[in-house]
Amino acid sequence: MKRKLENILITGGAGFIGSNFIHYLFKDNSFKGKIINVDKLTYAGNLENLQDIEKIHGGKRYFFEKADIGDFDRIADLFQKYEIDTLINFAAESHVDRSILGPKDFIETNIIGTFNLLEVARKLWGEVGKEEALFHHVSTDEVYGSVKDGDCFYEYTAYQPNSPYSASKASSDHLVRAYNKTYGLPITISNCSNNYGPYQFPEKLIPLMILNILEEKPLPVYGDGKNVRDWLYVEDHCSAIWHILKYGKVGETYNIGGESELENIELVNILCELIAQIKGRDKDYYKKLICFVTDRPGHDRRYAINCDKLKKELGWQQSYKFENGLDETISWYSENKGWVDRVKSGEYKKWLVINYESR
Ligand code: NAD
Ligand code: TYD
Repeated sequence: MKRKLENILITGGAGFIGSNFIHYLFKDNSFKGKIINVDKLTYAGNLENLQDIEKIHGGKRYFFEKADIGDFDRIADLFQKYEIDTLINFAAESHVDRSILGPKDFIETNIIGTFNLLEVARKLWGEVGKEEALFHHVSTDEVYGSVKDGDCFYEYTAYQPNSPYSASKASSDHLVRAYNKTYGLPITISNCSNNYGPYQFPEKLIPLMILNILEEKPLPVYGDGKNVRDWLYVEDHCSAIWHILKYGKVGETYNIGGESELENIELVNILCELIAQIKGRDKDYYKKLICFVTDRPGHDRRYAINCDKLKKELGWQQSYKFENGLDETISWYSENKGWVDRVKSGEYKKWLVINYESR
């Protein structure tokens, strides 16, 4: 394999999974290259997640560039400035509920933004050589829609997205695949199940519930709470992507999953019990906070991933059992109250101005 993996442009690196991935790569001794983090810093982008990386590697092996993936000239300049040989596209509008309230940004970033990145790579990678370059697109299992009990999503499962978010991701996946088939662009795609772990914006289920339990606020469960999600600890998602970058076959799609399926209500009950144990409360103490609220429109009933291809063909394996990942996550949110407060109050944007933009 002649893949370079030296100058890696990461889009959306200031978000939840992107920032975890940057931490992951700098901890991995097999990575010797540079990371160029390109992020527009929407509400979900928080450079505070990377202040340790900036301190240690900034200006040497880590570079931040504030940019919109939809800006062709800017992205093309960055490709040339840093001699990019690898692109990992994490940047996206990622929250289903926001996509229901206003789909436009999802179309612009997830579809048109991805299209723009593909165009830059198609036009500029002639010089790098197709065997050395790779465009990896990070996607979701939500593109497959909802799956019946006893069945699961395979890489060949037909796409049936049900929310504006998943429809926009499905569209971007199709474009990425088409650029390989049509122009020979070296691509790989991964479709991953629900992630959880440090730095997740507290509008998503697990951090929202942890923080509300800690503050004894209502725990809003949509519908009857029996929707099933498959949970993967974010570090395992990062190791899967790194595996695909190193060993994945060009043109292929790989499913990534936690093989930890739970109904939402089961998960919320587990969180209540774990936090009750930590706080020395009665097992059921926090369950009184659970309230069933109006269901999300088009709410997918069940996601379940089959990730045998990644395991068998590339030798990947999850490292975290669900219980361990949850313990880590509860500890992280309990110990990082400052981060949480700054995110919830909007203070993290001021942090950015003081610590970054003023330099
Ligand atoms: P996130 O919302 O936490 O982060 C997204 C990042 O992208 C933010 O830093 C944001 O500022 C940046 N961004 C948004 N629009 C941009 C634009 N136009 N140009 C440049 N940067 C922009 O999302 P996440 O949870 O970290 O998800 C990352 C990727 O993984 C997404 O593509 C998402 O679809 C996919 N994914 C997420 C999950 C999950 O459970 N979170 C599961 C499977 C796949
Ligand atoms: P979420 O974290 O938004 O991820 P996704 O929609 O991408 O799966 O939601 C996970 C599940 O939790 C989903 O079935 C919706 C449900 N949910 C609630 O019941 N209450 C909430 O407050 C949130 C945010 C989600």
